[in-house]
Amino acid sequence: MKQILAPILSNTEILPAVHLLWAHTPEIATEALPGQFVMVRCSGCYGPLLRRPLSIHRILPPNIALLFAVVGRGTKWLAQRKEGEVIDLLGPLGRSFEINSRNLLLVAGGIGIAPLVALAEKGIAEGADVTLLLGAPTQAQLYPAHLLPPQVKLWVATEDGSAGKKGLVTDLLPGYADWADQIFACGPISMYEAMAALIKGEKSVQVSMEARMGCGFGGCYGCAIETRSGVTLVCKDGPVFELGDIIWKG
Ligand SMILES: Cc1cc2nc3c(=O)[nH]c(=O)nc-3n(C[C@H](O)[C@H](O)[C@H](O)COP(=O)(O)OP(=O)(O)OC[C@H]3O[C@@H](n4cnc5c(N)ncnc54)[C@H](O)[C@@H]3O)c2cc1C
Ligand code: FES
Repeated sequence: MKQILAPILSNTEILPAVHLLWAHTPEIATEALPGQFVMVRCSGCYGPLLRRPLSIHRILPPNIALLFAVVGRGTKWLAQRKEGEVIDLLGPLGRSFEINSRNLLLVAGGIGIAPLVALAEKGIAEGADVTLLLGAPTQAQLYPAHLLPPQVKLWVATEDGSAGKKGLVTDLLPGYADWADQIFACGPISMYEAMAALIKGEKSVQVSMEARMGCGFGGCYGCAIETRSGVTLVCKDGPVFELGDIIWKG
């Protein structure tokens, strides 16, 4: 883990209230793995005091990209940063996704695409077949297909039916789950619950979990969750967990 002042190369609103930010940070880019995250200082003074966790969206040493939805004070501040300004990053942090097979199925709900693009790129570089199921409320909120590696086979679902299948991304899952050797997912808890019900523990599903984080490296215990292996820290033991290890509170 390193603390780096990284110059911003670009910061573009690629979807409504979703920014793609490229930063020059050879120290993080050369170490980072798909699924890991950085803690970003989101202020020039004291507020917000706590850094915000963001997944590493793409890894192209010496640069990394972050993809973030503008939801509150920290991400609003980050969205206003311009090319040439510097951001303060702590990372890479957390446990990455692990690829150990050939047919990789990626399931992304909304901004959950953030950690999965680096994973798709790694899988393709290692000779895997990558299929991505991508969901969003509307076509206008779908991650742009042209930003994905061309080898990725893409299937889309939108809640209003404006692109792809009408419905939730998990509605696409039954058609692809049998093909997959491994499944990787990032999205809301409701998506993971639906996946758990569909897959019934029959194959490995690695999911990226979210929690409010204080430190990002195991110091504050603010991100503790209960799993079947006991109480674990999302920042240090995760954010990538086996779906079957998660205990649902609902
Ligand atoms: C490991 C990890 C990786 C993440 N990666 C990404 C990413 O790549 N792209 C992205 O857009 N977001 C990501 N997030 C979520 C992101 O950290 C939060 O959206 C961000 O911290 C919000 O900060 P804010 O100051 O803008 O909003 P705040 O003012 O802190 O909060 C605004 C709203 O968002 C909710 N919220 C904030 N943080 C979280 C959280 N962690 N979980 C659930 N709800 C939250 C708050 O309850 C509130 O309703 C990730 C979270 C984790 C834990
Ligand atoms: S965020 Fe501090 S221990 Fe996880």
